[in-house]
Amino acid sequence: MDLNQIISEGISKSNDIGTPAIIYLKKALQYNVDTIQREIKSIYNTVKVLYSVKACCNADIIDFLSKNIDGFSVSSQAEFNNIKKYHKTISATGFHYSDHNLLDNCIFYFNSLSQLKSLLSGKKKREKIKIGLRIEAPNTLYCGKNIFSHFGFTIAQLKELELLQNKFNFAITSILIHQENKVFNDNKKLRDFILNILNMKVLKNVKSINLGGGWDNLFLKNQVSQFINSLKIPNKYEIYIEPGSMLVRTIGILKAEIIDQNIKHGVKYLTLDTSQFNNSSWFVPRVIANTKNSKVRSMKTMLYGNTCYERDFFGDLGKTKLSLKDIVYLYPVGAYYDTTHRELHGIKFPREYFI
Ligand SMILES: Cc1ncc(COP(=O)(O)O)c(C=O)c1O
Repeated sequence: MDLNQIISEGISKSNDIGTPAIIYLKKALQYNVDTIQREIKSIYNTVKVLYSVKACCNADIIDFLSKNIDGFSVSSQAEFNNIKKYHKTISATGFHYSDHNLLDNCIFYFNSLSQLKSLLSGKKKREKIKIGLRIEAPNTLYCGKNIFSHFGFTIAQLKELELLQNKFNFAITSILIHQENKVFNDNKKLRDFILNILNMKVLKNVKSINLGGGWDNLFLKNQVSQFINSLKIPNKYEIYIEPGSMLVRTIGILKAEIIDQNIKHGVKYLTLDTSQFNNSSWFVPRVIANTKNSKVRSMKTMLYGNTCYERDFFGDLGKTKLSLKDIVYLYPVGAYYDTTHRELHGIKFPREYFI
């Protein structure tokens, strides 16, 4: 079954589910997991896949992934608490560092000199501390010129770290280099960057390289393994990838009912029983299916959410026959939908199902 067939089947299977609802499809998630496992088999380094829970922290999805992939990536204490019971490999970043981030199965990637100094100054010199380091990645094709990420160490700061190594007892065993929206053309710049920094004395204890998230484009083109192999990372290094969106973006459907209709100025203004403004501050899904009412005249249709905010808007649908009481299905809502939601007027996120 391909993804389109899985989505069509999911829509038919959701008949008994009331609206509004977010329906995550187990088969679609399995499909994505199988696809990445296949890719990983043809990479010459050992690769671990850690799901970045910031993309969607639905408990059923996390539970499913805990049985199917190597571990998780978290960016806060709350995300850490969500997944610690699984005792899997954890990659952690963020601004709130605490001691349990140094558990054996957890690598905490320090973001700045000040964050690292605050850890080290509280430790006895005898104790050798193994840490991860987040390194500012080279820009990708989609980055604006001269816009730098505020995350991670620069090469100049890595040199400063060498001095700290004389004062404190720590070993950098892993580095994290996250780039958003990777495309194949970015590979040479990243390859040269990685091979260059791996020569630095301060990184001589590194055992693993975490390439972060941002794999969607490569995943859709089945280019993940080709991209990673092209980095030519010596195979003594283990590789981690921590995709969020890549695993869950395509697995979620929003089912909603049209609860209001206002025909004026030659346009049909329709309102759903859920709010785009509330559901996600990042992404707007598209209508992919609806119940059909053939007696209705086709006319220009605008689709809105159910808050009283003028710009709570799902989109201009062009000419449609949609009308009051129709059910619509919107897609995709799997990634950064629930985790970027808000609650204007106290309207809650739709009920979530994993079927
Ligand atoms: C460090 C890090 N890892 C992983 C991810 C997940 O990215 P994506 O959902 O694009 O795969 C992010 C996203 O911001 C990130 O900052």
